[in-house]
Amino acid sequence: MLVTQQKVLRKFWYALMPMSALDKGPQPFTLLGENIVVWKGADGKPAALRDRCCHRTAKLSKGFVENGNIVCGYHGWTYDCSGTCVRIPQNPDASIPAGARVPAYHCDERYGYVWVALEEPLQPIPYFPEEEAPGYRRILQFYEQWKTSPLRVMENSFDNSHFSFVHKANFGMIDNPVPAKYEFRPNDWGFEAETHVPVRNPEASFRITGTSEPVTERHLTNRWYMPFSRRFGCVYPASGIHHIIYNCATPIDDGTLMLVQWLYRNDSEEACSTQELIDWDRPITTEDRDILEATDPDACVDTRRRVEFHMESDKPGLMMRRMLMDLLTRHGESEVHNPPEA
Ligand code: FES
Ligand SMILES: [Fe+2]
Repeated sequence: MLVTQQKVLRKFWYALMPMSALDKGPQPFTLLGENIVVWKGADGKPAALRDRCCHRTAKLSKGFVENGNIVCGYHGWTYDCSGTCVRIPQNPDASIPAGARVPAYHCDERYGYVWVALEEPLQPIPYFPEEEAPGYRRILQFYEQWKTSPLRVMENSFDNSHFSFVHKANFGMIDNPVPAKYEFRPNDWGFEAETHVPVRNPEASFRITGTSEPVTERHLTNRWYMPFSRRFGCVYPASGIHHIIYNCATPIDDGTLMLVQWLYRNDSEEACSTQELIDWDRPITTEDRDILEATDPDACVDTRRRVEFHMESDKPGLMMRRMLMDLLTRHGESEVHNPPEA
C-alpha cells in the first residue's frame, strides 16, 4: 500500500510537530504528499493552509506571521486562518478579488502537538486518557523522519516476536524467542491487545522499570488507532510504574513518515528524569527505525499472502490489514494499491 494512493487516509488526523515548533514562525510540512504550512494564529491555536500563495505561487512557509495572519514573503499578500486573502499591500484601496484564497485544512492542538486532517475527518483526534488522569507527567520524546511506511511501524508495534532480535542489546531475550500471546479486543477503529512479556532488566533500566531484578515483566495493554497511531501501554508490575508511549507515524509521502513519540509516566522527575527517559527510549526506537528502514515501504494489504502472516505474532498485522481493507472498500477505493508479489 502506498499511502498517497489511498485517498481515504486524507480523512484522518495526524500529529505533525510539537506546538513549540511554531514559536519560530510558519513551518512547512508535507502530509500525504501535500505541501502545507502551519503557524500559530492570534488565539494561540494552530492553523494550516496549502503552502502555495495564490498570487505567484511562492511558498507561504517562507513568509512570516503578523497579527495571527500569514504574510507571503514575496509581495506581502496576507491570509487569515481560513485561507482568505485579507490584504494586498500594493492595492490598499482596491477590493480583494473573490478568488484570492488558499485551501485550508482542519487543524488543532492536542497533547502538545499540531494535528492536521486534509479532509473532513471520519473520527476525532484519538482520546488518550493519561493526558487528563491525575498522577501522570507528559514527556515529548522524539520527532524525526523515518524512511519507511506507517503501516510497517504499526505492525511492528504489535509484533512482540521482534523483541528477542531487534532489541537483544537491551531488554530483548534472544534465548527466549517464542512470543507471549495477545488477548485481542477489537473495536470500530482499531483494537486493544493485552499480554505479559518477560524482559531483561539491565542496570541501565533499573530506574526505568523501578526494580533491580535481572528479569522483570511488562504488562502491556497496547492499542491501535486506525490508521497510524498507537499506544504502547506498559506497566511494570514489580514497581507499579506506568510507561505509556504514544506514537503517530504521520505519512509524509510514499516512503517517508514523521515519527512522533511522547510518553506518560506516573512517577516523579526525581525518581526518573526526563533526560533519563529519553536516553532509555532513544536507542530502542533507533533499533526499530534501523530494521524498518530495511523493509519495503510498499507494504501489502493483501491478506492472502500467507507467508507474510505465517507466525502467530503476525496476527495483529493481519487484523490491521483486514480492517484497513474494509475501510478502503467502504470508501469506494476499488483500486487498492498492492505491491507486486515479492
Ligand atoms: S507570490 Fe505571494 S504575494 Fe506574490
Ligand atoms: Fe521494537
